[in-house]
Amino acid sequence: MSDSTSTTPPEKMKALVGGRGKDWVLDDVTVPEPGTGEVLVRNRAASTNNADLPMLAEADPTNGGHGKEFVAGFEYAGEIAAVGDNAGEWSVGDLVMGSVPSAFAEYVVADHRFVQPRPTDLDPAVACALPTGLLTEHGALTTAGFTSGQSVLSTGATSGIGLIGVQMAKALGASTVIATTRSAAKQELLKSVGADIVIVTGDEDLTETVLSVTDGRGVDVVLDHVAGQTFADSLPATAEDGHVVNIGRLAGPQSTIDLDALSYRHLNVHGVSFGFTRDWEMADIIAGLLPEVIPAVTRGEIRPKIDQTLPVTDFLLVAERLRSGDAQGKVVMTF
Ligand SMILES: NC(=O)c1ccc[n+]([C@@H]2O[C@H](COP(=O)([O-])OP(=O)(O)OC[C@H]3O[C@@H](n4cnc5c(N)ncnc54)[C@H](OP(=O)(O)O)[C@@H]3O)[C@@H](O)[C@H]2O)c1
Repeated sequence: MSDSTSTTPPEKMKALVGGRGKDWVLDDVTVPEPGTGEVLVRNRAASTNNADLPMLAEADPTNGGHGKEFVAGFEYAGEIAAVGDNAGEWSVGDLVMGSVPSAFAEYVVADHRFVQPRPTDLDPAVACALPTGLLTEHGALTTAGFTSGQSVLSTGATSGIGLIGVQMAKALGASTVIATTRSAAKQELLKSVGADIVIVTGDEDLTETVLSVTDGRGVDVVLDHVAGQTFADSLPATAEDGHVVNIGRLAGPQSTIDLDALSYRHLNVHGVSFGFTRDWEMADIIAGLLPEVIPAVTRGEIRPKIDQTLPVTDFLLVAERLRSGDAQGKVVMTF
């Protein structure tokens, strides 16, 4: 698990700074020091998230933004470069990945409990696109009380985290994974990551199709990334005593639901937002990945979809790609 290329951290590092204008600026900033309970990671690659552009726009002082400078980014992969006091079992050189603010930088400081081990053969440029998806989808499955042999419906399954969730559900023994997309052209993508049945919303009725492929019973667990009408339609497609977990609101936060569907089926509805999870809960969520999920990653059963990988010096192209809305999967920057 160690990488012998680790060296003493320098004083300055390259980082993408927001809050100065419309775009990030690649600048020299001070390398952070790990405090008590923290580790310093030499970051080799960082992946974009759908929060990156909104954060940049909100901070843009040339367009009414707050103008507070920040190092951008959330997901990283590299190796431990320094270990603070009381920072668990980590050692310099351990291969890691994780999700933490200020990840678009050559060095990242993280709470040692939030760092995920990176399998030896997993390139940082691939690993960096996994952590948020892993913790979110596994956290949602855990919230739903998912167990091997249950059926899962993932809505908005072509989303970055949704694709990871489909693979994870299969790797953890789901009997059937049903995945939705609005686009017929993306059916093959969902099949390729292991979806047993793909529903193209708009062409097919979500509720009717799920009930028909589950012999009228409905699925045990819904991982909903879409909200809106899709969330409403997933309720009567859920088995009695089943669990519906809202993860994302791709179609907007409002949903008008039929409470009869909820009540008659004794459904359990949950909302998760791991960006707002309290530290002690997050430590459990990350630790929960170790027994089954990280081994499935090691076996190659869970991989992120990556649109393209560029050096961080091409950050303007990265922002342009994100703004285009054409990216199919994560855009990765290498350091
Ligand atoms: N709860 C948490 O802790 C947590 C953590 C991370 C992300 N999230 C949320 O989870 C969602 C997915 O995140 P992501 O970064 O993985 O997303 P993403 O990759 O940007 O999602 C892209 C996909 O979203 C689908 N989509 C876009 N607009 C849609 C709409 N109006 N209706 C239905 N589908 C739509 C598209 O699927 P098709 O074209 O195939 O339909 C597209 O493939 C987001 O809402 C995000 O905020 C939540």
